[in-house]
Amino acid sequence: MAVVTSLRADENHPILVTGGAGFIGANFVLDWHANEPTPIVTLDKLTYAGNLHNLASLQANERHSFFHGDIGDVEFVRSLLSKIKPRAIVNFAAESHVDRSILGPEDFITTNIVGTFRLLETVREYWTGLPHRDKDVFRFLHVSTDEVYGSLSAESAPFNEASPYSPNSPYSASKAASDHLARAWHHTYGLPVIITNCSNNYGPYQFPEKLIPLMIHHALAGKPLPVYGDGLQIRDWLYVTDHCAAIRAVLRDGLPGHTYAIGGDSEKSNLDVVHTICDVLDQERPSANGSYRQQITFVADRPGHDRRYAVNTAKIRQALGWHPRESFESGLRKTVRWYLDNSAWTEDVVAGSYRDWLGRNYSAR
Ligand code: NAD
Ligand code: TYD
Repeated sequence: MAVVTSLRADENHPILVTGGAGFIGANFVLDWHANEPTPIVTLDKLTYAGNLHNLASLQANERHSFFHGDIGDVEFVRSLLSKIKPRAIVNFAAESHVDRSILGPEDFITTNIVGTFRLLETVREYWTGLPHRDKDVFRFLHVSTDEVYGSLSAESAPFNEASPYSPNSPYSASKAASDHLARAWHHTYGLPVIITNCSNNYGPYQFPEKLIPLMIHHALAGKPLPVYGDGLQIRDWLYVTDHCAAIRAVLRDGLPGHTYAIGGDSEKSNLDVVHTICDVLDQERPSANGSYRQQITFVADRPGHDRRYAVNTAKIRQALGWHPRESFESGLRKTVRWYLDNSAWTEDVVAGSYRDWLGRNYSAR
């Protein structure tokens, strides 16, 4: 039997993106639309993190459609799959913020674990009924995080695809569980699953609860810039468009049953990141009060805070020819400019219930 390993075949069927109104999902939908001929369908529950304005430029576009729903709603997903007949699914849908998972883990269990389980089962039913050829080219790409591997010491080698799982937060534990389910659905049922584990993303449309957009927003609003603990925790940063390109490469040529580690080769301490944001803002939007660095405040640390993440990207570089195109400096400048140019987007997003979150997360620190 000929094994079709490329998604290039059968370009008439759309790809389905879950969580496509969130930060990475929306960037992916826009990036796919700009680079690929195949139609794309977005499914999103529109939680606090989902924002249809992110996809406003595709509103009247016949190559994109949007469906409001939950990955855990079996009837809804079943009928959507039979209606649109996707040739691939990219699963971004998740609760994604570590601090929220610490203050309220239940939604993380519901969506990241139970939701992924139900999605896998519904997709398996759909995939089982496909004609042979469509079955071979079908892909279920599960988007995950490097946080499932736990925390590195300063001397440890970066994570790679063989690193043992050792999640420390409710968020990373729920993502680890979803990875295990996705992997098992391949091993047991043959569902053509691929998993990607990526480092911290940044760029346009990121909800201002995460480090980089939060610091930009607070700096411009004249508010304190809350650095957790000593600020020497290290993350690897990847510009979101580079992540989107990696996912397209994995969809095109990645192998079912494989995992691909994705990262930006940009390890930075949180304090370095905040200093760089302040320096870029000092150039792009100087304040009459002097440097934005003066707003930096050290606050109580995050419980169980992972010290360091870093990713070895040798596999995806060698197997798929992907590498990040943005440096941290170029990506961060683009990001700061985007937030400066799109202040209405941020104001819209931070209105309402997000204010309650700021009170809950920062008032006790
Ligand atoms: P996000 O929180 O910005 O977006 C998540 C989206 O999923 C939102 O649009 C939300 O409405 C939707 N959603 C939530 N629950 C849903 C459900 N039950 N059914 C359907 N839609 C639902 O998250 P993000 O930062 O864009 O992350 C996307 C994915 O990438 C997540 O799986 C996350 O774990 C993973 N990831 C994120 C990063 C990062 O730095 N942001 C890094 C690596 C991996
Ligand atoms: P975050 O953007 O929440 O991503 P993650 O926890 O998934 O890595 O946080 C990135 C780092 O920044 C993390 O070490 C926690 C830290 N941080 C702060 O110091 N202050 C803040 O206000 C936030 C939101 C994060």
